[in-house]
Amino acid sequence: MCGIVGYIGNKPVYDILINGLKKLEYRGYDSSGIMIYNQKPLVKKAKGKVSDLEKLFVNSADKQGYLGIGHTRWATHGPPNQINSHPHTSNSGEITLVHNGIIENYDSIKKILTQKGYVFHSDTDSEVLVNLIEDIKKTKNVKLGKAVYFALKQVIGAYAIVVFDSKNPKEIVGARLGSPLAIGLGDSEYYFGSDATPFLEFTKRCIYLNDNEMFIVNMKKGLTLREIKRDSIIDPYIEELKQNIEEVEKGGYDHFMLKEIFEQPHSIIDTFRGRLLSYNQPISISSLKKHFEEFKNAKRIIFISCGTSWHSSLLAEYYFEELLRIPVEVEYASEFRYRNPVINKGDIVIPISQSGETADTLAAIKMAKEKGAFLYGICNVVGSSIARETHTGVYTHAGSEIGVASTKAFSCQISLLLLMALNLGQKLGTLDQKRYYRIIQELEKLPETIKTVLKSDPIVESISEKYLDAENFLYLGRGYNFPIALEGALKLKEISYIHAEGYPAAEMKHGPIALIDENMPVVVIATRKGNYHKVVSNIMEIKARGGQIIAVVSKGDVEIEKLADHIIEIPDCNELIAPILANIPLQLLSYHIANKKGCNVDQPRNLAKSVTVE
Ligand code: G6P
Repeated sequence: MCGIVGYIGNKPVYDILINGLKKLEYRGYDSSGIMIYNQKPLVKKAKGKVSDLEKLFVNSADKQGYLGIGHTRWATHGPPNQINSHPHTSNSGEITLVHNGIIENYDSIKKILTQKGYVFHSDTDSEVLVNLIEDIKKTKNVKLGKAVYFALKQVIGAYAIVVFDSKNPKEIVGARLGSPLAIGLGDSEYYFGSDATPFLEFTKRCIYLNDNEMFIVNMKKGLTLREIKRDSIIDPYIEELKQNIEEVEKGGYDHFMLKEIFEQPHSIIDTFRGRLLSYNQPISISSLKKHFEEFKNAKRIIFISCGTSWHSSLLAEYYFEELLRIPVEVEYASEFRYRNPVINKGDIVIPISQSGETADTLAAIKMAKEKGAFLYGICNVVGSSIARETHTGVYTHAGSEIGVASTKAFSCQISLLLLMALNLGQKLGTLDQKRYYRIIQELEKLPETIKTVLKSDPIVESISEKYLDAENFLYLGRGYNFPIALEGALKLKEISYIHAEGYPAAEMKHGPIALIDENMPVVVIATRKGNYHKVVSNIMEIKARGGQIIAVVSKGDVEIEKLADHIIEIPDCNELIAPILANIPLQLLSYHIANKKGCNVDQPRNLAKSVTVE
């Protein structure tokens, strides 16, 4: 994980670095640091947030300079402290580096450098890399670009790096393998970032580095892009970014998470734009149209993903098997990649990822590709590594999601998955026409229906107050609502640090029921269609053991009202749409509990938004 920024040009660099790091804090926030060059490099680092780093800049002279690099860290090697923070400086003090990723063979390189007399102050692999670059530069008597090139040939692992040599202060060098890196092109100025958000307010012209690419930016010669393996110069592909800066700001909300929850009606409109035109027009998803034959002939579909995206995959299994009648498997990317899975020709592998950068998902894609699978990616971040590594795919278009706990990206993923399943099911003839039109009509109204659900916020907030001291929570759901039980539990534990588990409601009696007493709040998703009466029986079982019941029910439900301690109503709807709606009060419940407990909702401890390490 970790976030990288950098700048070289004609603007004062301090604000660009600090504000850029704040935008990247979602990637890691246990420590941060910057290097500003003004006649000589000045490095300052702090444990904690970027705001703690800012406190070190009391002297305005320290802020002067037009070139700098910065880093916000999510610790991998060594605890989060000032010494382990980046930038790291070489022994001579000349070279500074920021790094996102892991150098797997750092220990053996460290031993060799130690024998040569290099001294290491931190526990990090990154300090080894900066000294390796210095060693190569000196022994081979080459410039920084060449030294970085030779160093990267020696290292095994993943990296995005930005490097500076004070002997040549008109130049910045960077490279990527496995971790993202973007270059923003201004007017005789260059910005660097783990994503484009640090420079979005300055320029929309952006180059996303591919794996095995490195750049040298020289204020006299401009930008040179090289392919590392072939050691050849390549033409940069410049993208025009469509994102705007408002998307990455809080817009009056206390937290990004709350803003993103309330953005969901609009995000769904963006997800459906151009795809779901009206109920009497066919769904239009161009990549599905183009690759319909692959889906028609598919023997099996395998969804791979991590975290919240895995919960989307699980719901996709329910949608796709029901509407397409094609066997579906759902795999954690981290398990799939290491267990030598059987992949046959004709298998479709669908990775789902908000960030498009999750290391395990990316590695699983590469492995499946080598085994001959057809890769259809579902990503939110445009131009991300996963989007580029797959054969084709579709973007969720949820907009920037900054809160570490995924909310709108999840809603957009599952809405899109339902739309895809309806599209394919209709074309394959596996879906009854009347049913298709009934669901489509409701789906068209989804943004409005979500607005209605969001009105339950004050009710959810008042319920949350009663459970601030709870130590455990159980979430139960059946059928389409089972993945939502898992997601509800994940959301709560991520941001409030309350232990929570999601279960298929019927499985409760095979273990979790032993935990139920008057101190155990149980959230039950009990919408009217589907297995409603079976869930009612489960609620009775909880009640009989004194558990506190918070039930998400369909509007007008009278049966559960008599049993539950609290009810939260969502509009009565098709059972395939119910999970999309039922999830929203659960997002709000987690948010309010965490916020009232004083937790850092947007940046929960130990987590990061984009997990670019295994
Ligand atoms: C991290 C995030 C989660 C996310 C997961 C998978 O753990 O905190 O919110 O669900 O990574 O990320 P992806 O970007 O692949 O969906």
